[in-house]
Amino acid sequence: MSEGESSIQGMFTRVASRYDLLNNLMSLGAHKRWRLAAVDMLRPNPGDLVVDVATGTGDMALLLAGRVGPDGRVVGVDFCPEMLAIARRKASAHPQGSICSFIEGDALGLDLPDDYADCATIVFGLRNLTDIAGGLGEMVRILKPGGKLLSLELSAPQPSWLQLYLMRAIPWLGRRFSFHPPAYEYLSASIFNHPPPEKIARLGKDVGLAAMDYYPLFGGLAVIHLGRKGS
Ligand SMILES: C[S@@+](CC[C@H](N)C(=O)[O-])C[C@H]1O[C@@H](n2cnc3c(N)ncnc32)[C@H](O)[C@@H]1O
Repeated sequence: MSEGESSIQGMFTRVASRYDLLNNLMSLGAHKRWRLAAVDMLRPNPGDLVVDVATGTGDMALLLAGRVGPDGRVVGVDFCPEMLAIARRKASAHPQGSICSFIEGDALGLDLPDDYADCATIVFGLRNLTDIAGGLGEMVRILKPGGKLLSLELSAPQPSWLQLYLMRAIPWLGRRFSFHPPAYEYLSASIFNHPPPEKIARLGKDVGLAAMDYYPLFGGLAVIHLGRKGS
């Protein structure tokens, strides 16, 4: 693992216990609506095998489990054991949790076969990868021909009041409620440093997607990218 990756991993280790609380506070619960919009757009089929990369505390994996049903399977991958421990705990109390498995692994070198999954998702994860094209490339590799790739990610918004919210309120909430305030300075900066949606769509095509479109939500603060691997 590179130095950059181990510093990201260390940061998520320190925020894990309060990650869900801060997510709810900072987005005022909007992340739940964005996840639902993402799953509605992905439209996985019952019985599908979905890999959720950088799965964290497992919210997206559990939402996907409800859509693929008892004949489907969801594999959540993350390199932070502390985040995965929370995901497993949530899955054990969730009606469809038994079809989820959570494995430790690096998004930049997934320990999964080629042409393996019907869908691959990454939610609030792409921005944290030290090599975005590398991460997208790995997701494309594990997709079956015709499989779908979805990313939901935060992005620099258009309205100036939202920009101000990101620059001022997010670090403040981090100082007030997290055990590791620098992570929320990083969060704010990483959103502004993340490549614009059109560049992500280009990268998706560069690494082998037949097409990749994007859909901004909430003034561009969140963006869904949806692509398909060629048949
Ligand atoms: C902001 S959290 C998102 C978690 C989750 N997907 C969600 O929807 O809340 C980012 C996650 O990406 C993981 N992550 C970052 N880089 C990674 C990498 N190279 N390989 C695997 N996981 C990674 C972190 O450990 C963390 O759990």
